[in-house]
Amino acid sequence: MLKYLSYASKEAQHFSEEDLKQLVEQARANNERLEITGLLLYFDGTFTQYIEGPPAHIDALFQTITADPRHEFIVQLSCGITENRKYKEWSMGYKNYDQIEVAEILNYPNFNPDRIFRNYIPHSGNPGIILLDETRKQ
Ligand SMILES: Cc1cc2nc3c(=O)[nH]c(=O)nc-3n(C[C@H](O)[C@H](O)[C@H](O)COP(=O)(O)O)c2cc1C
Repeated sequence: MLKYLSYASKEAQHFSEEDLKQLVEQARANNERLEITGLLLYFDGTFTQYIEGPPAHIDALFQTITADPRHEFIVQLSCGITENRKYKEWSMGYKNYDQIEVAEILNYPNFNPDRIFRNYIPHSGNPGIILLDETRKQ
């Protein structure tokens, strides 16, 4: 049995390309050890991340991530139990999107990332979740 969880957050300080690279390297090293896989997206100061793995490891990692002062306004987008990994090849996949790419994927010109923080019913309609899913399929 595995647990999965996704969330969105805003950077609390600007992340340069180098900062992002270091963050992903650190995440990959830790996640590999903890049997956690997933995907991190960065777009216009907004993070969207999906993590999956042993439930206790996911709970502990999410606690660590939510306590990280480098980001804020953390909103959980999804959470549940699954048998199969969605991102089994990636200890932490990573994609830094620009406005044009996001507009194309979501079919939404001038998409404002603040929309990811709204409540969607069903939650699969959340643009953050759509971006995570579409990135996996690429
Ligand atoms: C947006 C965001 C995503 C993160 N994702 C992960 C992650 O997937 N795995 C991880 O170990 N740390 C992640 N971190 C970093 C953790 O908050 C924390 O700094 C790190 O786990 C501490 O690792 P250490 O004990 O090796 O120093 C993330 C931080 C941010 C801001």
